Amino acid sequence: MSPPILALREAGVLTLTFNRADKKNALTQEMYGLLHRELQQAAGDDAVRVLVLQGGQDLFTSGNDVTEFLQRPPGGLDTPVFDFLRSLADFPKPAIAAVGGPAVGIGTTMLLHCDFVYCGDNALFSVPFVNLGLAPEAASSLLLPLRVGPAAAAEMLMFGEPMAADDALAVGLAHRVLPPQQLLDYAQAQARKLAAKPSASLVLTKQLLRKAQREAVHAVMADEAWHFARMLQGPAAKEAFSAFLAKRKPDFSKL
Ligand code: COA
Repeated sequence: MSPPILALREAGVLTLTFNRADKKNALTQEMYGLLHRELQQAAGDDAVRVLVLQGGQDLFTSGNDVTEFLQRPPGGLDTPVFDFLRSLADFPKPAIAAVGGPAVGIGTTMLLHCDFVYCGDNALFSVPFVNLGLAPEAASSLLLPLRVGPAAAAEMLMFGEPMAADDALAVGLAHRVLPPQQLLDYAQAQARKLAAKPSASLVLTKQLLRKAQREAVHAVMADEAWHFARMLQGPAAKEAFSAFLAKRKPDFSKL
């Protein structure tokens, strides 16, 4: 069986690929743990100059694994998912995301911690936390309005409907839209361009660009995590996840 996260180091670029197609690249605690370890190692490895995060050209990720949400809900900050989010938020080198197809939940919120988001014209960005009885995570309540503006952020976070690639480009969530079959090659080409630049200068530029927000990002992430863990145990989330797995519509009429 191939590993659920593929890690490839080539020409100064570390490419991490979500590799769980049968479950639409849903992310498990094991996968967050692997991602976290790769990021930690890459942060201190001079041979890695740029990071690329990707799924396939037709599928980024369907977000957190719903079965795990039901059976082993993460209970706070000392969990693989938050280790991953913190290590991505603090990743010192340029990070590129290549998004083809759906990017659900954390699939979209993790993009707010990447420096460049390239997407296929098939990309669909969604943060359906309200529809799942949950709350924003990964500092998205802070970073999404800053990135796309308060109006688009409210629409995305409260209606939870997928945003198409062209709209994501228009609001500034994506940097460029490409035909899906060109997406992964384009992301690699951009990564190699960055890898050829003076690394210390890129690292310093990224650090300065993020400095004013860094403390707030971590504080908001922790605050959201507390609410998220509480909401995960609530009746609306349980109904939403059970309905998804049973392939029926959730019934929130009494909640
Ligand atoms: N967690 C666990 N399993 C998931 C999953 C997730 N996040 N997303 C998809 N799957 C599973 C389905 O249960 C299904 O499993 P099965 O073949 O055993 O029945 C399989 O992956 C295929 O999913 P399906 O929904 O049939 O594919 P689709 O092409 O119709 O839709 C998506 C793809 C990504 C749009 C849809 O799966 C989706 O919306 N997933 C998001 C789930 C979610 O709420 N994520 C949490 C966000 S916080």
